[in-house]
Amino acid sequence: MKKTVISHSERETDRLGFLLGQAVNSGCVIAFYGDLGAGKTHFIAGLAKGLGYKGETYSPTFALVNEYLGGRLPLYHFDMYRITGWEDLYSTGFFDYMELGGVLAVEWSENIEAALPENVIRVTIRRLDDQSREITVDSTAENACFKEEAFFETIGD
Ligand SMILES: Nc1ncnc2c1ncn2[C@@H]1O[C@H](COP(=O)(O)OP(=O)(O)OP(=O)(O)O)[C@@H](O)[C@H]1O
Ligand SMILES: [Mg+2]
Repeated sequence: MKKTVISHSERETDRLGFLLGQAVNSGCVIAFYGDLGAGKTHFIAGLAKGLGYKGETYSPTFALVNEYLGGRLPLYHFDMYRITGWEDLYSTGFFDYMELGGVLAVEWSENIEAALPENVIRVTIRRLDDQSREITVDSTAENACFKEEAFFETIGD
């Protein structure tokens, strides 16, 4: 299933992330696409809250991965901006994290396309103007970890 919505504010993007966080389960990989400043990190802050995480979220630009623990499931937040090959990717621990049974959120998934699992959920964010973003959520593949019908129903048209 695939749906595109327009977010008119940070708050709306946050809410969308929150709803996705409520609908995903162990083993979900959420791949983010979109330019610098599109709103990926912002969306993931909502996602973390939707998973019940109470702490701060922050961009993993330098750490490459942040772990948000203590919610319904752990959330592992990656930034693949600087990842250019398989060796780089292995060094982030990406494949080890996939085994841990949490949820993965991956910024700059463009850079690791070949490593994404078949059941990936893709979130593409496009800047329309200062406050507006076009956000597409796409989970076309068969996906046992994602309650997609409930999610797509709640996000409206
Ligand atoms: N509707 C909106 N949704 C999300 N962010 C918005 C929106 N309107 C404005 N913004 C602003 O856009 C910026 C998004 O920044 P954010 O760090 O989330 O982008 P990013 O896609 O993670 O960028 P990067 O590739 O640098 O990590 C923030 O400054 C935020 O305040
Ligand atoms: Mg970011």
